[in-house]
Amino acid sequence: MSVILKTPEDIEKMRVAGRLAAEVLDYIAPLIKPGIATEEVDRLCHEYMVEHQGATPAPLNYAPPGYQPFPKSVCTSVNHVVCHGIPGEKKLKSGDIVNVDVTVIKDGYHGDTSRMFYVGQPSIQAKRLCEVTYECMWRGIDAVRAGATLGDVGHAVQTHAVQHGFSVVREFCGHGIGRKFHEEPQVLHYGRPGTGLKLEAGMIFTVEPMINAGKADIRQLADGWTVVTKDHSLSAQWEHTVLVTEAGHEILTVSAGTPPRARFGDVNGA
Ligand code: MF3
Ligand code: CO
Ligand code: CO
Repeated sequence: MSVILKTPEDIEKMRVAGRLAAEVLDYIAPLIKPGIATEEVDRLCHEYMVEHQGATPAPLNYAPPGYQPFPKSVCTSVNHVVCHGIPGEKKLKSGDIVNVDVTVIKDGYHGDTSRMFYVGQPSIQAKRLCEVTYECMWRGIDAVRAGATLGDVGHAVQTHAVQHGFSVVREFCGHGIGRKFHEEPQVLHYGRPGTGLKLEAGMIFTVEPMINAGKADIRQLADGWTVVTKDHSLSAQWEHTVLVTEAGHEILTVSAGTPPRARFGDVNGA
């Protein structure tokens, strides 16, 4: 049970890794259109990270205990897929929503971020789910500051989701990140104010709520990775990597194309 506090040198390198991860999403955003296969999204992101950024895609062959190696370089989670979708030959079609989750390793440090994209025209329900999930992430991030607790963060996320009639996935959570992809602490997206780990300046972790339009229950597919909603309802997720500071927090996964919070409306930025 140990949360690694980052040094100023660590933090500078985490800023670089975070920006690169976000820039992969900036690059792929305009290419997410009806007809593109998710394995093409993966191939393009892989090439961008390796050739253009001199970075390593952390998911490729990632094999935490109990898992087989992840076979691709990004996760693509479409519609009722909650997370860890494996890119494949299936083409995106108009009306789909897709999460692209990018984690790069640069200079030994990880940056982890994901966004939702609309493929063509989303349904009103799908758009609302993506927007509410985006705000859930921000409410969680709002609660991040030295002296607050992880329970405060989880509670903020959960309250916003439930207010809108949606449910929070409980089996997967945010995580500490640094030289390791997943380290302590676990950042649950539900909780009680004032409970759990007390945040200190220098901690770095992700906030990455998975929110379902229907019930919270999930199921893992036989491929060993893909997680879907049990009731096949739509699911959405957004993720930022965040540094705790004395005054509050600093988002590390920012780039020119990061969707601004207030002006969120069209996730493809069109
Ligand atoms: N990027 C995911 C996260 O936010 C983890 C993906 S693990 C993988 O924690 F192996 F599926 F890539
Ligand atoms: Co993450
Ligand atoms: Co991620």
